[in-house]
Amino acid sequence: MNQSPEQITIRQPDDWHVHLRDGAMLQSVASYTARQFARAIIMPNLAPPVTDTKMAQAYQDRILAAVPDHDGFTPLMTCYLTDGADAADIEWGFASGVFTAAKLYPANATTNSAHGVTDVANIMPVLEQMEKIGMPLLIHGEVTDADVDVFDREAVFIERTLSKLVTQLPGLKVVFEHITTADAVDFVNEAGPHVGATITPQHLHINRNAMFEGGIRPHAYCLPVAKREQHRLALRKAATSGSAKYFLGTDSAPHEIHAKESACGCAGIFNAPYALESYATVFDEEGALDKLEGFASEHGPNFYGLPLNEGTVTLQRSTTIVPENIEAGGATIVPFHAGQELQWRLVR
Ligand code: NCD
Ligand code: ZN
Repeated sequence: MNQSPEQITIRQPDDWHVHLRDGAMLQSVASYTARQFARAIIMPNLAPPVTDTKMAQAYQDRILAAVPDHDGFTPLMTCYLTDGADAADIEWGFASGVFTAAKLYPANATTNSAHGVTDVANIMPVLEQMEKIGMPLLIHGEVTDADVDVFDREAVFIERTLSKLVTQLPGLKVVFEHITTADAVDFVNEAGPHVGATITPQHLHINRNAMFEGGIRPHAYCLPVAKREQHRLALRKAATSGSAKYFLGTDSAPHEIHAKESACGCAGIFNAPYALESYATVFDEEGALDKLEGFASEHGPNFYGLPLNEGTVTLQRSTTIVPENIEAGGATIVPFHAGQELQWRLVR
């Protein structure tokens, strides 16, 4: 491919990590994802969380009802693992096609994770069974110990938990979600083919300075938190390397404006509306537009063992002005890149 084309057409992508929420928020945000992506891995951290097959099936129905104009969009459901996770139900959910994967939140690591796993040892029987049946484990990779610096929590998780887990269960498919550090890139590069990682647009665009530019910037705050510039550069290199271990996962996580602009603002960046434009801008800046299709549309399905999409999307080199706010069913949400320009536009 010409390295600075005016237009690129790629196989239709999937989003391997997104929060679509529920109720009115789901109605407002779902179509942003469905208009770009053929499939999306839906995070289960609702309140209460999606912990069994029945809840996942009902949630999938609500998502499909929220995107009536996007036939063909497939929400891929995940099971929220708790200390009491039911191995038999999870196996049934996977075998019957309701669950695509299970999500491990260390207890209290992030939004709605209070019911998460307190010690991986507690769910070992479930993980052993997932290894046996080929069900991927998606991991929010941060320790939660108050004595570990917030910016070190991913690196410490690798050392204390993840490196041991992949040695203990070498056949388990593991997705290290929304990686934010050079440590995570090194770990994934050195791990076996069963270990992959998703990378968000924000961790490719911003470093931790973005949260303090001229004052406190709640809309640049997500978890895992953005790290130093050296880490952002390592993530850009990994995403654009062509390695099959890295794939697109936006971690789009909408919160209403008042929940972000608060004395105790929620973690989460709403990047769904311009996700492809945002990724394309990074790949273009890195001179790697020819690697975008693999990252966005091929590595994910290949890792999960799912077919590649048949359709295509087209992006044009043309300015997209991202609005300051998005009105969503009476609520206001500030999108990623609010008020900025991106140099690509999705034209389908
Ligand atoms: C997510 C959310 O709001 O649900 N927030 C975030 O900052 N990414 C939870 C998560 O994925 O950690
Ligand atoms: Zn997430």
